[in-house]
Amino acid sequence: MNIFSNFSERLPFLGIVAFCFIGALLLGWKFIGSNLNSVEVTVPVLSDPARTGKIAFDANCAVCHGPDASGSDQGPPLIHNIYNPGHHADISFVMAAKKGVRGHHWRFGNMPPQPQVDDASISLIIRYVREVQIANGIVYQAHKM
Ligand code: HEC
Repeated sequence: MNIFSNFSERLPFLGIVAFCFIGALLLGWKFIGSNLNSVEVTVPVLSDPARTGKIAFDANCAVCHGPDASGSDQGPPLIHNIYNPGHHADISFVMAAKKGVRGHHWRFGNMPPQPQVDDASISLIIRYVREVQIANGIVYQAHKM
């Protein structure tokens, strides 16, 4: 016996199929959208200070800058050529944490200051980010405007 013997019986079923299809489309769109800003990151074997820096990074920065600084839908990847030490020297990390950042390279808006992160932790975070940058081919390039 065919349970879908006439069209009016088939309608609710078609409705469910359409609903799932649209839902899947929206989910896929959100998923792709949220990953547009992130990059593939190779994590090297870290030095001891960098490993400590990673802990501080994960606690204070990863919520926006993503796991391994690969970026998220809240903030840019720091493993990106823009942040090579020739364009963003270590002091820019210190200033970012102390004063925040006025959005200028991306469309995420401003970065709020992170006063809970002390100078020692920032140094370790910088060490961590630089080691991961190097492992991903991001090295010093003189900044030309
Ligand atoms: C609430 C989200 C958020 C958090 C938390 C956050 N950032 Fe940011 N950060 C941003 C955004 C957004 C930008 C990009 C601004 C722009 O468009 O240039 C940014 C930019 C930066 C920059 C570039 C600065 C510059 O001069 O352009 C550095 C360095 C940085 N962040 C480091 C950190 C570190 C280190 C931490 C953790 C202590 C951290 N951020 C935590 C959102 C965040």
